[in-house]
Amino acid sequence: MTSPPPEPSLTVLGHDGSPLPEEARELLERAALVAGGERNLAALPVPEGARTVVMGDVGAALDAIDAELGQAGGGGDVVVVASGDPGFFGIVRALRERGHRPRVLPALSSVAQAFARAGLPWDDALVVSAHGRELRRAVNACRAHPKVAVLTAPGAGPAELARELFPQTPRAFVVCEDLGGPRERVVHVRPAEATTRPWREPNVVLVLDPRGPATGPGSGGRGWIAGARPGPARWALPADEFAHGASALPPEVKAFALARLGPRVGDLVWDVGAGRGEIAIECARFGAAAVAVERDEAACDRIRANVRAHRVKVAVSRGTAPAVLEHLPRPDAVFVGGGGPEVARACAAKALRSVVVVVSEPGRVQGAVDALEGESLSAHAVGLTAAPFGAPTSTQTQTPSGAVYLVWGERPEPAPPADARKREASSRQVRVTIAELPGTDAGEPTSGSAR
Ligand SMILES: C[S@@+](CC[C@H](N)C(=O)[O-])C[C@H]1O[C@@H](n2cnc3c(N)ncnc32)[C@H](O)[C@@H]1O
Repeated sequence: MTSPPPEPSLTVLGHDGSPLPEEARELLERAALVAGGERNLAALPVPEGARTVVMGDVGAALDAIDAELGQAGGGGDVVVVASGDPGFFGIVRALRERGHRPRVLPALSSVAQAFARAGLPWDDALVVSAHGRELRRAVNACRAHPKVAVLTAPGAGPAELARELFPQTPRAFVVCEDLGGPRERVVHVRPAEATTRPWREPNVVLVLDPRGPATGPGSGGRGWIAGARPGPARWALPADEFAHGASALPPEVKAFALARLGPRVGDLVWDVGAGRGEIAIECARFGAAAVAVERDEAACDRIRANVRAHRVKVAVSRGTAPAVLEHLPRPDAVFVGGGGPEVARACAAKALRSVVVVVSEPGRVQGAVDALEGESLSAHAVGLTAAPFGAPTSTQTQTPSGAVYLVWGERPEPAPPADARKREASSRQVRVTIAELPGTDAGEPTSGSAR
């Protein structure tokens, strides 16, 4: 009895410039189809008989891989070559989404190589990607965190990053170009200089705060978690944890405002009419980048003192809203501590996700609701009273009845792009297939390429 021919295999080879291990070399020699970026295909010994697919258009390359592996008569072995560790911001995700279970032989990630070239530890670094994604989130992470590695792309590289950060956010750049390749170069540079230099592709940028190590809650001592710091252990801090002047909001009300702002790593939050800077500081404690906007110079000094005391990063912008807002980068969320409907509307026009407005009198609630709705946000309002048991209420914003009115608005989520819907549908399909197959591990997707 003859056994059936072996099914074709799918392997992903990481490449970091070092010679391929023997096993990877053999797999490549046997491949019928080799897919990868132009740079990796050129650097590796692709056999003459193999068909090659250049991964400019990832979707088309994945279609070619599917076709090879799905051939009824049995296609040949497929090797995908990718940079660094293909399981880290790499092709393994897309292959899994198509239902494949590739074998992965990783190389060193460009991020690990970059920190090694800089001679720095990196378990405390944030790693963000601007490759095929908006640069904004990467920039916000760099504004808020002292050690960030940015995976870049053409048009979202060191110069663009530097233009966004300079001059408000003092940072040092280590630009690591073509790591492991023939044009490798590691350049230490200030953002001012990085804006104008030509840079070689591909590159990773380490964005470092020259003023020292990680700050803020969760930092200090030896870390236990890689990447983003854990969120703060406490938030909606009591008034006496901020110095200088009275608090605008009782902590119980501030908790609700923060819940609706939803500050996260990668976000930018404006605190407009910042007073003592409490909201901006609380948002920064969650890992968001924050700007405190305040027209009064003495208040700006107080904000800076509170920011230092809380060991977070908050930019202070002195000026009067709405005019001063024109010069600020676009926020995800905005807290409006004062200024009337005109300011609320200007903030709503810019906010990508949410706006929370404090209103001291019930007669002004509708004006704030109209301002938010006028900029296509869904608006809601609530009157909140917080009376610590046994103590009289005594904050500036509370009315004689004790209520503070919070008006908040949220921008409806845009519909996901068509290809994301298609991916979701195809992964649903994969799950159905698994449920119907006897004897397979129901938790794992499977496909013709699985071995
Ligand atoms: C899609 S990500 C892939 C990351 C890869 N999986 C890794 O572990 O390095 C592509 C980005 O990785 C970075 N990159 C990849 N190879 C690189 C290299 N040899 N030198 C510098 N950066 C590199 C660049 O920022 C590039 O735009």
